[in-house]
Formats: sequence, structure tokens, C-alpha cells
Amino acid sequence: NIQGFIFDLDGVLTDTAEWHYRAWQQLADEEHLPFDRQANEALRGVSRRESLLLIVGSHAYSELELQKMMDRKNRYYVESIQTITDKDVLPGALNLLAEIRQAGIKIAIGSASKNAKTVIEKLGLADHVDAIADGYSVEHPKPAPDLFLYAAHQLGLDPAHCVVVEDAAAGIAAAIAGGMWTIGLGPADRVDSADIVLPNLMGIHLADLQTKLSR
Ligand code: BG6
Ligand code: MG
Repeated sequence: NIQGFIFDLDGVLTDTAEWHYRAWQQLADEEHLPFDRQANEALRGVSRRESLLLIVGSHAYSELELQKMMDRKNRYYVESIQTITDKDVLPGALNLLAEIRQAGIKIAIGSASKNAKTVIEKLGLADHVDAIADGYSVEHPKPAPDLFLYAAHQLGLDPAHCVVVEDAAAGIAAAIAGGMWTIGLGPADRVDSADIVLPNLMGIHLADLQTKLSR
């Protein structure tokens, strides 16, 4: 039985995955590095450094240049999230969070982002969750299970009693590696290893998820 839900943030509770993509696209264009929406799929849920390394590929950059590019991408991203409000919580998310809390089930956010706390505050979600694991919490990023294990630990729960909600292949892999249940959001080819695959959280109720996971 499920005792805790761990939600990814970017692309699950809000549409910041699009802002991450646009910030990387701007950086890649300025650096004349080939990049597009298709290439961005591999970056979904992936840490800032790993994302940049995927974009630069075999091009030689010094550590200082990499640092400067990460800072630049983050400036573009931070600028784009300034206007986020509670209206930017994706459809269905708030209702599901309320149902989960109502049922006495714990809730954490498990995000690779170092900007997660800012985004959570702007969305007005801080009071809806019991714990936050973000880009500062652990050393090894998704697909390592560390971030979600940290979140489960924060909730005081056995990972086997937790379900992770993710939009990224790296996140589903991380949750499976951590021995957790998985709900994948988005096209099936991206999250097809999840226990449940849904297009998004619109109209999704806790009871339906519990039924599907107990089968
Ligand atoms: C993840 C996003 O949540 O956080 C990735 O899905 C992003 O796109 C990663 O690269 C790191 O975010 P940040 O804000 O620390 O650069
Ligand atoms: Mg995500």
C-alpha cells in the first residue's frame, strides 16, 4: 500500500520543462552548437551539468567555460520563471495533492533543480508538501535513485511504499532503481517503463491510482 507520493516538479506539477528547454536552446544557438526539441528529450529531468555535457558533446571546453555556460543558461531560466504564479500549477495537480493529503498519505517533491524551492514558492505549493528534495540534496543526479531515496527518508517511509510521479525517462529509471512504484506522465515512448502511464494529471484521482497499483 502507498504511504507516500514523491512528485517531480518540472514537467509534472508545472510546465517549466518548456522554460528549461528554451534556455538551453538560446545557449546552444549562441554557441553554434546543434540542438533542437528532439535533442532536448534526452535532457528532460537531467541535471544542469549533465545537460550541458550532452549539448556540447565532443566539443572541447575548459571547466571555466562550462561553468560560465551553466551560469548563463541558469540566468535565462531564472529570468523566465519570474512571472510564475499559482495559476501555473498544471491542471489536476492541486486536486490530486489535496486528495492525497486528505487520505493521510505523505507528499514530497523530488526535483533535480537547484531552482526548485523558488518555483515551489511561486506556485504556492510549499504548504501542500511535507518534504522537498532538490538539486542541492544529493550528489548523484537522476537516473541514480539517490534523490528519491533522500525524499522517502525525509518522509520517514520505506521506498517500497512510495510512488514517484515523473515526466522524464531519467526520473522513472531513478525511481525503479530505488525500488519505488512509478507513474509516468507524457508520451508512452518516453516513460513506458512506468507502472502507470498517463498523459498528464488532469482528472486523475487518488482512488484510481491506488486501484491500478494494487493489481
Ligand atoms: C530538472 C529539469 O528538474 O532540473 C531539468 O527537468 C534541469 O531540465 C534540472 O536541467 C536542473 O535544474 P536547474 O534549475 O538546477 O538547472
Ligand atoms: Mg521533470
